[in-house]
Amino acid sequence: MKRLEGKTTFITGASSGIGKACAFYFAEEGSNLIISSRTAAKIEQVAEDIRIKFGVSVYSMSMDVRSNSDVTSKIKNLPKEWQSVDILINNAGLARGFNKLHEDDPDGWDEMIDTNVKGLLYVSRQIVPQMVEKKSGHIINIGSIAGHEAYPGGGVYCATKHAVDAITKTFKMELIDKNIRVSTVDPGMVETNFSNIRFAGDINRSKKVYEGIEPLYADDIADAVLFCATRKENTNIGQIVMTPIAQASAFVNYRDPDKM
Ligand SMILES: NC(=O)c1ccc[n+]([C@@H]2O[C@H](COP(=O)([O-])OP(=O)(O)OC[C@H]3O[C@@H](n4cnc5c(N)ncnc54)[C@H](OP(=O)(O)O)[C@@H]3O)[C@@H](O)[C@H]2O)c1
Repeated sequence: MKRLEGKTTFITGASSGIGKACAFYFAEEGSNLIISSRTAAKIEQVAEDIRIKFGVSVYSMSMDVRSNSDVTSKIKNLPKEWQSVDILINNAGLARGFNKLHEDDPDGWDEMIDTNVKGLLYVSRQIVPQMVEKKSGHIINIGSIAGHEAYPGGGVYCATKHAVDAITKTFKMELIDKNIRVSTVDPGMVETNFSNIRFAGDINRSKKVYEGIEPLYADDIADAVLFCATRKENTNIGQIVMTPIAQASAFVNYRDPDKM
């Protein structure tokens, strides 16, 4: 018997990186999936690949987590058989730029706050009430080590991930009598499309992030998320902080000269 057989997992931002890896890991354990991202073609391709590989049911939809009306209407209009979610993985997120706050572009701030904080809240606001009603469920938020520290050039991204940490802790306390698990998985450096997006497609700059270090991969995070979701029913993993071996904090890294 697979460990998540008969469960439904909802993953935001599943067209790429960590969200996509989670979709594959959860499907391999037998979970049916609702997966979303903004790009319809990309998310449907992931859905089709998973259906073929694992034989689970997958419902895919384009949904922009920054829009409360889009989130509300897409989730309220899910087909009846998809209306009960067991595990919610709030993963959609991004960083924009690497500038000092007093020199930074406020459009990037809006995008990060709207996606990483408000998006997570909008989606949770739609899904968590049905978990409360059935007195079971699991919320897993993808935070970051940026939620535990600040670093120059990352002020607003760090602020959004500190907010994710605060929201996770609040859910844990508010849902204490509802038999709902609440977890956060907080990675350091993971090689995904994240740095390309942060540096607006400047490949040389995004490559430099991983220079001389073996980073984490999306699969490593999916493995940790799956670990949270497959513990004994009486246990709650509150938080997992994970980094590559050669990373101690956002700016304390060991870059091996032989690998540069
Ligand atoms: N990579 C790292 O080093 C790292 C470290 C710590 C934490 N994280 C966190 O991990 C999470 C996933 O990032 P990743 O590294 O996997 O990056 P990624 O490869 O760029 O994936 C981001 C995903 O989020 C989706 N997304 C972005 N904006 C969205 C929106 N407004 N509405 C819906 N979906 C949206 C993207 O799809 P569309 O563009 O198609 O919408 C994509 O599927 C983020 O929360 C990030 O902050 C990453």
